Amino acid sequence: MSEGTFEPKIIGFLCNWCSYRAADLAGTSRLIYAPNARMIRVMCSGRVDPTFVLKAYSLGADGVFVAGCHPGECHYVEQNYKAMRRFLMLRYTLERLGVESERFRLIWASAAEGRQLAQAIDELVEGVRALGPLAWPRHLVAGAEQEAALDKIVHEHAEAMEIPA
Ligand code: FES
Repeated sequence: MSEGTFEPKIIGFLCNWCSYRAADLAGTSRLIYAPNARMIRVMCSGRVDPTFVLKAYSLGADGVFVAGCHPGECHYVEQNYKAMRRFLMLRYTLERLGVESERFRLIWASAAEGRQLAQAIDELVEGVRALGPLAWPRHLVAGAEQEAALDKIVHEHAEAMEIPA
C-alpha cells in the first residue's frame, strides 16, 4: 500500500441508547463524514472490555473509538464513568505498547448529536491518516485478509447483540 492511498481502518464501539442513534441520525441526515469506521453496537460504553479494543488493533484496526452517552446520562446509571476510567488506563497502556494516543478516542454523543459524532469520527480518521498504518498485525496481509479479519469482529459483536426470539 503506498502512502498516498492509505485509508485508516477504524473500529467504533457505540452504545445502543445514545451514540449508535447519533450515528443513525448522521446517516438519515445525510451528513458527509469519513466512511472508514465499522460501527459495532454495544448496550453501553461500560460493556466495552479492554480486550475488545486490543483485539481490534491486533486484527488490523488502525484506530478505535468508544462512544457513549454523556456523563450523567448513561442508561445504566454510571457505567460510562467506568468506560472513562477504562479508557484512560487503556490509552496509557497502549501508548507504552507503541500505539499512539491519537489512535484511540472516547466520544460522548447523545442521540441528537449526529453532527458532533460525525465530526469526532472525521477528526479521528484524519489523525490516524497523518500517523499512517499501525502495522501491529504483521501476520496479516494488508488488503483482503485484513478486511476479512475486521469484518469477522463486527460479525461476532453483531451476534452478541442479537436477542433470541
Ligand atoms: S447506555 Fe450509553 S453509555 Fe451507558
